[in-house]
Amino acid sequence: MSPVHRLSLLCLVCLLLLLESHASDILNDAHVYRAFASFEVVPDVIDEAPDCWARVSFKSGRQAEGGNRLTPTQIRNPPVVTWNVNERALYTLIMTDPDVPSRDDPRYKEFIHWAVGNIPGNDIDRGETLVEYLGAITARGTGLHRFVLLVFEHLQKLDFSSEPRISAQCGTVRRYFSTRNFTRKYELTNLYAGNFFQTQYDDYVSTVQAQLRECESERTLNELNGARNGTVFGGP
Ligand SMILES: *[C@@H]1O[C@H](CO)[C@@H](O)[C@H](O)[C@H]1NC(C)=O
Ligand SMILES: *[C@@H]1O[C@H](CO)[C@@H](O)[C@H](O)[C@H]1NC(C)=O
Repeated sequence: MSPVHRLSLLCLVCLLLLLESHASDILNDAHVYRAFASFEVVPDVIDEAPDCWARVSFKSGRQAEGGNRLTPTQIRNPPVVTWNVNERALYTLIMTDPDVPSRDDPRYKEFIHWAVGNIPGNDIDRGETLVEYLGAITARGTGLHRFVLLVFEHLQKLDFSSEPRISAQCGTVRRYFSTRNFTRKYELTNLYAGNFFQTQYDDYVSTVQAQLRECESERTLNELNGARNGTVFGGP
């Protein structure tokens, strides 16, 4: 290897190390409060930030870093989410978009993208999937949307039997979710970990839209929607 090549390899290694230390610095728990406040996740979604970051890694290789921008393509599959586990506890995870139709005009807020209840440890596959994961269907021209992942810790198993199960094919019934009402209903007082990123419309949204069907239960859910004045999942 020529000295020039050796030098450029060395530079590359340094750059990678620098990038890595930068990434771990972003997800330093000392910065959680500031990040949630500066993007107004507090108070738009919750009253207080969690104590620590949840690590949220997508198959695309990208991760949530407290407000970074990810494309609809990068977030098309459910991410792997991990947090520091308390062995005796269970966890309930939600992913919500408070910016529907847009951050300036959030009149249909919130839109629930994903909910898994009673997760033992970090093992999301062994939790109860309440709302199946749906990627970005953010409308064209509505700017950046915040996508917020929250992990609540609870010691008792929660009874979600009264909640409708919402499949990945169901879209509109996900509107009018309220994180605050949901946490009140299930007494989820311990917001343990969280993270968020931003995403906005691009052409891939039409691919995600195409997976939506008028799902079997959509009519019933929409009736329920009316009866509950908006919220289908987690409503009164
Ligand atoms: C729904 O709204 C109607 C009128 O707007 C009100 O009378 C009713 O109490 C509300 N129901 C619930 C469950 O909030
Ligand atoms: C949240 O709960 C309050 C009080 O029950 C209710 O008035 C409000 O409509 C609920 N919000 C949503 C989005 O369902």
